[in-house]
Amino acid sequence: MSQSPSTLPSGDAIPPHGGTLINCIAPPEQAQELRSKAEHCPILYLDERAQSDLEMIAIGGFSPLTGFMGREDYQAVLETMHLANGLAWSLPVTLPVSSEVAAGLKEGQMIALASAEGKILGLLELTEKFTYDKTREARQVYRTTDEQHPGVKVLYEQGSVYLAGPVTLLQRDPHPLFPAYQIDPAQSRQLFRERGWRTIVGFQTRNPIHRAHEYIQKCALEIVDGLFLHPLVGATKSDDIPADVRMRCYEVLIEKYYPKERVILAINPASMRYAGPREAIFHALIRKNYGCTHFIVGRDHAGVGNYYGTYDAQHIFDEFQPGELGIIPLKFEHAFYCTVTGTMATAKTSPSQPHQRIHLSGTKVREMLRRGEVPPPEFSRPEVARLLAEAMREQGSP
Ligand code: ADX
Repeated sequence: MSQSPSTLPSGDAIPPHGGTLINCIAPPEQAQELRSKAEHCPILYLDERAQSDLEMIAIGGFSPLTGFMGREDYQAVLETMHLANGLAWSLPVTLPVSSEVAAGLKEGQMIALASAEGKILGLLELTEKFTYDKTREARQVYRTTDEQHPGVKVLYEQGSVYLAGPVTLLQRDPHPLFPAYQIDPAQSRQLFRERGWRTIVGFQTRNPIHRAHEYIQKCALEIVDGLFLHPLVGATKSDDIPADVRMRCYEVLIEKYYPKERVILAINPASMRYAGPREAIFHALIRKNYGCTHFIVGRDHAGVGNYYGTYDAQHIFDEFQPGELGIIPLKFEHAFYCTVTGTMATAKTSPSQPHQRIHLSGTKVREMLRRGEVPPPEFSRPEVARLLAEAMREQGSP
């Protein structure tokens, strides 16, 4: 793991999930023809999640998926956490529409996929449309049928028919906010190869970076060649901190507190589902597609409220055969600031009693910021704390 990059063999450190990195982006010479074709197809307007799913499929982030799931895969994923072909997969990737919209579409038809503003983004070859059981999906995916759960709420409010079939993205547009950080799986793999990294740890996050995040990332960096810092910038809950603010936090932190040559910051265009354990698997497989060999899973990964046990998202990895996922989870206990040693730690490394620990969480930061307070240094590096407080003042309450 501490090999010198120059002695490393070339080639990717890890194959994509299913063996092939999917690319559903139309080659430039075909894009015009497909665009003209799309103008004569029925148009479907995508919401933010469907748009980011389309993007993730097209760039290979969801390899081996080449489109929205059909009934067979959907059922297999719900019931067994595998695709119909037996490959591990934990979350449905589906395209919901109302029964009225579905009634107007025929299997075998091409459908133009457009943004909410009407821009044609891609094409769906409709191979199947099917109804599904929302309560069953809620229970299997989210482990709850409570409509207060943000993922369940989306599920209950969405259309009752799923459209399935392979997709094509007409062109890869630069990200409107973070073009410099738009690094697709083929590119991240290329970057890892160029740097000679053989072991890369992926880090999923949807919150402003705090010291517990930094601690677990640096613990991981002690044993791998590089850190792929991969904040999610697709749809999140309205009370999560906006992605542009979070990105500025990562920038200031990396600048001052990280070995820059061992970190790559890139955006993850996926949307949050808040599915806790099942989403942890999903997040790991996405990072495998980006070329990561390891993936950090800390406390209550991708969780929300009290729906999941603190370490459920770690235990779920044990439900797969050894090596089946192909990416190694690095599991971390709840990290805190230990007032005895004056360092970040977990119960595994700290001599402290519970009352001597300052516990941190994204939720706590959000609450402090909402009250106009600046998070303390035990929680946040001062540069990050200042930035967050300023951003929240400018934007009003998060
Ligand atoms: S998440 O929804 O993307 O998981 P968040 O951005 O808060 O939320 O967390 C990113 C990663 O850091 C997750 O793996 C999470 O489990 C981990 N994490 C967050 N806070 C802590 C903490 N205090 N101790 C250990 N791990 C943590």
